[in-house]
Amino acid sequence: MIDPTERKGHPDLSLPEAEKRGVYHAIYTRRDIRREFLPDPVPEEVLIRLLKAAHHAPSVGFMQPWNFILIENPAVRQELKRVVDKERKAAAIVFESPRSEKFLSLKVEAILDAPVLIGVTIDPAREGPFVLGRLSDPDTDVYSASCAIMNLWLAARAEGIGMGWVTIFRREDVQGILNLPYHVKPIGLLCLGYVREFPQRPMLETEEWAYRQPLSKHVFVDGWGRQEGPFWDSISKDLDKKDVWPWER
Ligand SMILES: Cc1cc2nc3c(=O)[nH]c(=O)nc-3n(C[C@H](O)[C@H](O)[C@H](O)COP(=O)(O)O)c2cc1C
Repeated sequence: MIDPTERKGHPDLSLPEAEKRGVYHAIYTRRDIRREFLPDPVPEEVLIRLLKAAHHAPSVGFMQPWNFILIENPAVRQELKRVVDKERKAAAIVFESPRSEKFLSLKVEAILDAPVLIGVTIDPAREGPFVLGRLSDPDTDVYSASCAIMNLWLAARAEGIGMGWVTIFRREDVQGILNLPYHVKPIGLLCLGYVREFPQRPMLETEEWAYRQPLSKHVFVDGWGRQEGPFWDSISKDLDKKDVWPWER
């Protein structure tokens, strides 16, 4: 851990306190929103701000593999809803009863309810076959576009706009509906709109489907599963402590 006194003599580049708080506030109170969108339209200038926030995400080799397809036509929405429903039913098969019934009772998308619907795609061929940094891991385009979606998600939270990231669909179905070239992969349908509130806990937690795990289970030192030594002893005490930010759940 860096002792703050060690930074003496270096410029303090941390954000002003209120702005720093704002960043953590957005992180801790962002939720995946799938219900109770308000009908109020999202003004175009706000939508543009969100898209710009997404476009300022990092990307491997600066390849910017993303595209954002704004869905305007209600018929296209209906088609997307149809293929998401189809896949939702297919996905339920992997669970045994009663979990499969429970899964089917969960709301996992808001394709028709959200005022704004955006399809996000990645183009793995963007910037040619030899993108800096991509040779060693072809998935880096997915990582990059996921960063863009996360930027958009947090910016939306800052604007009071809820967002649900929907991935329950067959790639080929969405490729057909949105006329995507064969090599372009859809990685999400983003449902956005103003909401009355951001629930304190993930919906899957309130629905007793899954729970946030203790952070200490997921942190190792110097290798898989290693939780020992002076650094671990020092840091592990505070990993599960919830007293830094009031919004943490
Ligand atoms: C890559 C990705 C794909 C997701 N796909 C879906 C989805 O198809 N349907 C859904 O209801 N939620 C989806 N989610 C949302 C998660 O269920 C949600 O993030 C998680 O339950 C934690 O809740 P929170 O986002 O409110 O903290 C997705 C999240 C991520 C990161």
